[in-house]
Order: sequence, then C-alpha cells, then structure tokens
Amino acid sequence: MAKPTYYLTTPIYYPSDNLHIGHTYTTVAADSIKKFKRLQGYDVFFVTGSDEHGQKIQEKAKEANKTPKQYVDDIVADIKKLWKMLEIDYDVFIRTTDEYHERVVQDIFTRLYEKGEIYKSKYEGHYCTPCESFWAESQLVDGNCPDCGRPTHWAEEEAYFFKLSKYGDRLLKLYEENPDFIQPESRKNEMISFIKEGLEDLCVSRTSFDWGIPVPFDPKHVVYVWIDALSCYITALGYGTENDENFKKFWPANVHLVGKEIVRFHTVIWPAILMALEEELPKQVFGHGWILFDDDKMSKSKGNIIYPEPIIELYGIDAFKYFLLREFSFGQDGSFSREKFLQRLNSDLANDLGNLVSRTISMVSKYRDGVIPEVVAKEEVDDSLIELATTVAGRVEELMEKFNFSQSLEEIWKLVRRTNKYVDETMPWVLDKEQKVDRLNTVLYNLSESLRIISVLIKPFMDKTSDEIRRQLGLEDQARWEDSKEWGLLPAGTRVNKGKIIFPRLDVEKELERLNEANQKLIDERSKKKEGGDKAVDQEFITIDDFAKCQFRVAEVIECEDHPKADKLLVLTLKIGDEERQVVSGIKKWYKAEDLVGKKVICIVNLKPVKLRGVESNGMILAAEDDEGNLSLLTTLEDLKSGAVVS
Ligand code: MSP
Repeated sequence: MAKPTYYLTTPIYYPSDNLHIGHTYTTVAADSIKKFKRLQGYDVFFVTGSDEHGQKIQEKAKEANKTPKQYVDDIVADIKKLWKMLEIDYDVFIRTTDEYHERVVQDIFTRLYEKGEIYKSKYEGHYCTPCESFWAESQLVDGNCPDCGRPTHWAEEEAYFFKLSKYGDRLLKLYEENPDFIQPESRKNEMISFIKEGLEDLCVSRTSFDWGIPVPFDPKHVVYVWIDALSCYITALGYGTENDENFKKFWPANVHLVGKEIVRFHTVIWPAILMALEEELPKQVFGHGWILFDDDKMSKSKGNIIYPEPIIELYGIDAFKYFLLREFSFGQDGSFSREKFLQRLNSDLANDLGNLVSRTISMVSKYRDGVIPEVVAKEEVDDSLIELATTVAGRVEELMEKFNFSQSLEEIWKLVRRTNKYVDETMPWVLDKEQKVDRLNTVLYNLSESLRIISVLIKPFMDKTSDEIRRQLGLEDQARWEDSKEWGLLPAGTRVNKGKIIFPRLDVEKELERLNEANQKLIDERSKKKEGGDKAVDQEFITIDDFAKCQFRVAEVIECEDHPKADKLLVLTLKIGDEERQVVSGIKKWYKAEDLVGKKVICIVNLKPVKLRGVESNGMILAAEDDEGNLSLLTTLEDLKSGAVVS
C-alpha cells in the first residue's frame, strides 16, 4: 500500500546576511516534523531555500563590490553548510535564481495576466527602500516606515497589479470552512480583521531595480517579490514543468511554517494567487513566534546577533535542537539567553537523560556482565513505570498535531525523570548486595526497556542521541514509532556497549565566556570575510605569462591505493605521456581507490614535490568544490591521450 504523503515547507530565507538562530528555529522545527512524520510511516517531502531577488540584495551586493549573484552565492553556500552541520534533511533547496523557478514564475505571471488577474497601472506612495515597501500616508509613523522606523521617500512607478481585492470574501470563507487553516488561533483573528478592513490590489512588478525575474512580455519590469517567492512552494515540486510528479504527489502542502510577520503573505496573498491559478490550497499555515534577545529583536545593527554555528561546534547539534524546541513555545515569542541554554543542558540533558543512560548501561555492565537480563520478579512499582512509558507516545502524537514541540519534549522528559526515580526507588545496588538476583534482573530489564522507549520518542528531535542510546543498548534495528507504545520489545540477552557520556555536566560560568568569545569570533570573521570580499574584486590580475608557468597535463590513473597512514588521502600512480609519477590527493572521502583506475584527470606537473604523511607527491590533480564542500575531479570533455597539454 502506498504510504500517505506529507508536504511541509519553511520560508525561503533572504540571503542578505548569514542566518542567525531565529532563522534556524523554523528549519529545526520543520526537520523534526519531517522526522516525526517519517517515523510514523508517512512519505514526507520538505522544501526550504533562499529568496534571492530584490532591491535590498542588489544594494547589499553593490556595497560589497560584488554582483548580486556572487553575493547571494556566497551566503547561500554558508546557509547550506549550516543545514549540513545541523543534519537538516530537506528534499529540495530551492533558490529563486534557479533557472527552472524563474521560467515557471514567468509562465505564472503571463497566465495571470492573460486571465485578467493581473493588469497594468501606476503605483505611488511613500517608499521604504530597506523594507522594499510602499506605504500610504496614513500608515507612516512620525513620517517614517511603520515596520523599521527608517525614513521613506515619495516614489511613483508604472507597475502591474494583481486583483487581490476581489478575493476578500473567498478568503474569509476559506478560514471559516477550514478552522485549522491559520494557526495559532490568535493569528487567524488578526487576518480576519485585516481582510474586513478591505483588501487593495497588490503591486506585483517593479521598474526601479532590475535584480529580479523579468516580466516576459514587458521586460523593463521585474516580478516583485511575493509572486516570485511564494511560487517556490510549487515550483520546488516541479509545477509547470515536464517533471511534475512531485507536484502531483505532494501538493497541496500539509503545512507552511512561517514567522508571525509573514503570516499575512501566506494566508492572504498566497491562497489568492492559487485561487487565481485554480490550484488547490495548502491545508495549513502555522505562524510561529520570534526568538528575541533580551526581549529585543536580534539584528546586526544592535550587535546582538546569535549565530548557531559556535553553539553547535561547542555542544553538538542535539543540545542545540533540544534547547530551541523545548525552551520556546512555538506559537509565541521567547527570549534567548546563553545562561538558559547552559542551564537546560546541565539539568535536562546531563542530569536527567545523560545520567539515566550512563547509570543504566553501567549497572547492566557491572551487575550482569553487560547482558540485559530477563524479567522474573515483578513488583507493583514497575506498573507505574510501564504505564507511563507506554502512554507517552500517544500524548506526543496529539501535541505534535499542534506542533507543540515544547510540551512533547516535556512529556518525554516526565518519563526520563520517572525512570531515574525508579532507580532511586528500587536501589539496584542494595538488591545486588542482598543478592536478590531475580528482582535485580527485573529492575535492570525495566530500566533498559524504558531507555529503549525513550530512544524512540526522542528520535524526531535528537536523532544522533537516539542512535547513540540505541547503540549503547546494543540495539541494531531502526527505531519505529509504534515500538514506543509496547513494553517488552527489548530482547533479554542483548549485550550493551558501554560508551561515552552523552552530555557531560558543564561549568556555566566558564562556558558562558567560551560561548561569547566563539560568537564574537565568528562575527569578526564574517565581517572580515566581507571586507576581504571587497578586495578580492579588485585583486591583482595575473598575466598570461604567470599562467603559463603552471604546466597542466592530462594524466591517466594506472594504480591507486589508500594512503597507509592517512584516512583522507589516496596515493595515485599517474601515466603522463611516457612518464609515470606518484601523486597524493585528499579525495578519499569522495572516491574509492579502485574506481579511479583507468580514469583521466588533470594534473599540474611542475609543482614542487612534497611528502604527505611520509609519502612523496609529485604534482597535484585538480578538483572543483561545490557549495557543501564536496569535491569532483576535473577531466576533459573528449577522451584525450595521457600527456596532452592543458592550456
Ligand atoms: N524571504 C521571506 C520569506 C519568503 S517565503 C515565501 C523572508 N525571509 S527572512 O529571511 O526575512 O525571514 C525568514 C523567516 O525567518 C521568517 O519566517 C521569519 O519570521 C524568520 N525569522 C527571522 N528572525 C527570527 C527570529 N528572531 N525568531 C524566529 N524567527 C525569525 O521573510
């Protein structure tokens, strides 16, 4: 039987700067939903990406002395690195500069124009450049932009408009007939009032800048941000192309996760565009709250940006994910502090979960030689543990329907704490001393079994920790959600593997300093990189003579083996014309030695020989690197004989 499908999205982020923990929040939440749904047996599709057009990015790129594309390429590479670091399991990362997206957006725009849903007119108003928004006189606050507080200027331009005003009633009906369409409830009421005030037609093109998708039938206009950005949710599925199987399979989306300030675009403009296109509507838009810093908005200019990378490097991805999902209530704003993070790490992860894992595995090792014993002597106290352990999953399911991550984790931690209490109640060390063999066997089994259930329950939120607990418990199979509802599935006789402490206790004062320093270091590095980037544009050119000094040749790999002392290196014997030479290369992560034999590569042959971990290397083979740091060896389009000169 085909699995039920589930499609979810995050917003596509502006690559105007590196992402901070606020942006990371939505993506971590979405990734947990994906893992949760997949564990429940759904076929899940998860889209994220970057929203790359617009005046703001064009200006940022200019400041940095780069073309807009160069500018966004650099930031998008960092975003993808961050998602890789966090093991975010997205299916498509859509960039609005992707050729297929641009083409389909042009088709959508033309179709809407031809259907009379888009018309040409004139736009005028107070324009805020940083927010790329026009405002009516009545909306200004002290003459400034109501969103960012900065000055606006009067602007006028010929523009295309989408007939949003005619959709008010249909939108209200949509909300009424689908009470879950906008969540949480409070955001729905805001939208209803907004629509009842009367919708105006929406300006969907600009002529004042050109970093955007050209309107195909009037190319001095570019498609203005929302038709471009919102369409990504369907273009990422292949909508409007020959490869639209994913669109057929996954649309409509089960949920678009968005921050509270863009709920309006997703619940008013997006459904109206889809109605105009006569496509199905998403089932839900969930508007989550913001992560603030000391109750203030995080921003570069305020100097209070918290980047996720240092936290992850110092404490691991699971501690970071756990904190984001447990500390903040998804629908509401919350304030981030490093102290709170470290305290939770100590209390929930080191004291509660970490301690339970190490006690359980140590006691099975100490008292039963590492083998999980059989249940033989039950007592009443066991029942309350079993009752709790087998009912957590049901409560988590209900809570996750509402994306209540925080309460879901709290329910799981009730079991973690109950199991720790069970150790104190049953006192295995006393049972051992008094030689109550059967009872000790039962207690050790129950502890291990409870831990097995916990390993399943935490999997959507803390994948790595779940796997590590299962490894230490000696379990080899994959966690399945249904297995968290049944007691007794852990086979007696399983041999545990004593492992490292999963969350060591930390000295908060010391760690605060380390965290602050690491964040500041990254902020400095990133601004330096930008400065460096400026210089890189007017870097010194090399002459053709400089280039001619490098002698490149086509080379055939005739032998290849692993380096005897280094994990990442391969040792290749190359045939270059009549000559054979040895080259060492750091490509083992991407290529198996045996797969390279017979392949032609490009080698620089007049590089000074060096010894790499004791093995001589006479030259270097060339490779290109993608955004995620993966290498691909260079070769020639036609099959040339070895020794051919590359120039
Ligand atoms: N590009 C648009 C979205 C287009 S979706 C078709 C955009 N980009 S953004 O980069 O400014 O914001 C992306 C998301 O990050 C938004 O949902 C926003 O709410 C979220 N966050 C930005 N700062 C945040 C916090 N401090 N806390 C939580 N989320 C925050 O809007």
